[in-house]
Amino acid sequence: MTPVDLSAAERLRVLRDVLGPLVAQGAIVRRPAVMAWAERRQSDRRLIGTLADLRHRHGGAPLVVRLGPRSIVLVSRPDDVARLLQGTPTPFSASTREKSAALGQFVPHGVLISSAAAREVRRPVNEAALDTGRAVHGDAELITKVVDREAEQLLSDARERGSLDWPAFTDAFQRCVREITLGPAARDDVALTSMLTALRRAANWSYLHPRRRRLRQELDARLHLYARGAPPRTLLGRAIARAEEDGTTTVADPAGQVGHWLFAFDAAGITVFRALAVLLSRPEDRDRVRAEGEDPSSDTTLPFTRACVLETVRLWPTTLVVLRESTEPTAWGGRELPAGTGFAVASAFFHRDRERLDFADAFTPGAWLDGRAADDWGIVPFSGGPAVCAGRDLVLLVASRWLTRLAAGDLSFDRSVYLARQALPVTVDHYGLRFRADGARGESSQPEEVAAG
Ligand code: HEM
Repeated sequence: MTPVDLSAAERLRVLRDVLGPLVAQGAIVRRPAVMAWAERRQSDRRLIGTLADLRHRHGGAPLVVRLGPRSIVLVSRPDDVARLLQGTPTPFSASTREKSAALGQFVPHGVLISSAAAREVRRPVNEAALDTGRAVHGDAELITKVVDREAEQLLSDARERGSLDWPAFTDAFQRCVREITLGPAARDDVALTSMLTALRRAANWSYLHPRRRRLRQELDARLHLYARGAPPRTLLGRAIARAEEDGTTTVADPAGQVGHWLFAFDAAGITVFRALAVLLSRPEDRDRVRAEGEDPSSDTTLPFTRACVLETVRLWPTTLVVLRESTEPTAWGGRELPAGTGFAVASAFFHRDRERLDFADAFTPGAWLDGRAADDWGIVPFSGGPAVCAGRDLVLLVASRWLTRLAAGDLSFDRSVYLARQALPVTVDHYGLRFRADGARGESSQPEEVAAG
């Protein structure tokens, strides 16, 4: 369809309801105070409503938003999403100006912000490390052992304290991630994660924040040190082996990919924590996850638990917006858009599209088991096409294992009524989730109503 230019009033609405809240929440690391505000306001509801309204008004045409010299085109139909994602890296590059400026703060050689030529070298190295395309990672046995150990320790600490909150969970999750990625020597390297978090905070401002060069060099030096002694059965060890095999070590820069992996695992942790809240609110689903985790024949594929993870990231996507930038002029209906045009897919709008999806707001893991969700170009929590998340399969392995372990613990959720509803809230602040660990192998405890929803 031919793109339409938004009027000044429509542009303001998009800035206020769509782009503003996305930037405020923090694209690279979420800001806790804004997340709490966003949950109270259910800010994604306005985003969804505004985009649905503009789609109606303009018959599904791509919406051109002029922002000074730059134009961003918001698409509102799944076939346009498919065109952008399948057309990556040319004519639609994943390395947009905003993303390059942001990720350049901590992972300047990352595959996601690489030129088409460098991508050809770096993508296979990422795929070898993460075992992309294989449901069960080659080192799954080792990986799941690490998960089990950390989850058990976390549950035991939680029982002692009487509760499990985000800070305790993320500390344990990051210990697990560092060990899987870099080896046992990195398990307790909290300073590494802190460095990365500081760089990610700067990255939230994209090109509006000056480069923190010294800190990035420190991070780089630390990662290269790990690279020297990386055990072969770690993500970094696997990446190094593949780059050596391909003779591409200099361009591929295996240690230079690690920043993206550590950063992206944060999204996996957020998803586990939200999924846990949902499961503790829905005893039937929780019991199915527990049973799957206890059944030796369900091995590491855990289909229902994986579907719960996917469904959680559909309902609350961690990549708020997928961006592309055209590398050449592209034809859209009767109009040509110049090279350098930005394109945006607002995930929450597509994932909660009531006009297209009869399960838009409902927790429906079954949609991932019967193909309804997986085959839909409007449902892209891990993106799609040639630059699809290279860590998708690994995330599902790690997250589902964590979930079975935590679901089997003696946890309960006081706000369970909030997530037991048929129509789930559009914004959930993971920082604010807190579970009780009082020893009663949790039937849901007395619910407490909250304002949002
Ligand atoms: C819930 C967890 C995660 C979600 C929802 C997620 C989602 C995504 C999305 C949407 C993209 C595309 C971004 C874009 O086009 O701008 C992406 C790219 C990528 N992700 Fe993930 N991701 C997750 C975790 C991970 C993890 C843990 C790793 C590595 C260990 C990882 C590795 C990558 C890589 C390497 C890319 C770049 C792929 C390329 O450009 O070819 N992701 N991810």
